[in-house]
Amino acid sequence: MGNQRVLSLVQPTGNLHLGNYLGAIRNWVEGQNQYENFFGVADLHAITVPHNPATLAADTYAIAALYLACGMNLECTSIFVQSHISAHSELTWLLNCITPLNWLEDMIQFKEKAVKQGENVSTGLLDYPVLMAADILLYQADKVPVGEDQKQHLELTRDLAARFNHQFARKQPVFKLPEPLIRAEGARVMSLTDGTKKMSKSDPAEGSRINLLDPPDAIAKKIKRCKTDLFEGLEFDNSERPECHNLLTLYMLLSGKTKAEVTAECAQMRWSQFKPLLTETTINALKPIQDKYRAVMDDKGYLESVLRQGREKAQAIADRTLSQAKAALGYSVPL
Ligand code: TRP
Repeated sequence: MGNQRVLSLVQPTGNLHLGNYLGAIRNWVEGQNQYENFFGVADLHAITVPHNPATLAADTYAIAALYLACGMNLECTSIFVQSHISAHSELTWLLNCITPLNWLEDMIQFKEKAVKQGENVSTGLLDYPVLMAADILLYQADKVPVGEDQKQHLELTRDLAARFNHQFARKQPVFKLPEPLIRAEGARVMSLTDGTKKMSKSDPAEGSRINLLDPPDAIAKKIKRCKTDLFEGLEFDNSERPECHNLLTLYMLLSGKTKAEVTAECAQMRWSQFKPLLTETTINALKPIQDKYRAVMDDKGYLESVLRQGREKAQAIADRTLSQAKAALGYSVPL
């Protein structure tokens, strides 16, 4: 285990899909032994838009179980639930009071989501990036794996950390400025129904994504119906064929073959040959994850013990940072 700390959280909304897995989770898992990792379930972020109380807890457990199913190793990785550690909410309040309102109003994701919410935009939605900054800064994270859409939030986190340190902790900085951990090239997974759009859990078309927990018949159906083209043969990197590039990339990533191998294997193929191959490869690649997920979900006691351990480790670090922040702001911190 290295001495650099990596932290990331995933919201418990909807299912994780191949884009999340190939674009993010698989990379974290592959590199996990080089770092000390904290992976959380962002259930406080989940209520910034209308949510379903009846499924919140189950959805939260499901993400934690999927983390385990995807191969997170508990020797170097702690898995925790954001709402279990009250320091997240508390630091958010402290940071709120040093966050200029216009920084939040200018956030791209806020503006996009606010349009969708219409009249019902909550203060929490506006404050979402400050909660995310608290998540990161509490752990003194060195690296945060983020996708393109979260880069602006990480920038804000760095700006807030610098502002706090500058205003209140000049002699001894309280917060470390985190760096983004950019994902490996070639792992950008696009929608199955439009090769120019990212695979996304907010896409209303269920057929646009393959979820990690999709049963084999659903996978077969989605691949059967996915968008293709009328060119001859299959190839990477033809900008007129975004779907072809995406499906070959999926095949490459899921089969573990190199780009050169896939290029040679598929050059002469027709879609009717390639689709069953991709279907079988996808089903086989997801099977171990699905088996492990079921085993974890069937053993609630185990999952709870993992989350308890994760919480203990996370809480100790988070509470220490919170105390330092409070002391810097001038609070009398009870001993
Ligand atoms: N906002 C992130 C997303 O939707 C989730 C998130 C919450 C996060 N807190 C975080 C990611 C801290 C990285 C670090 O993807």
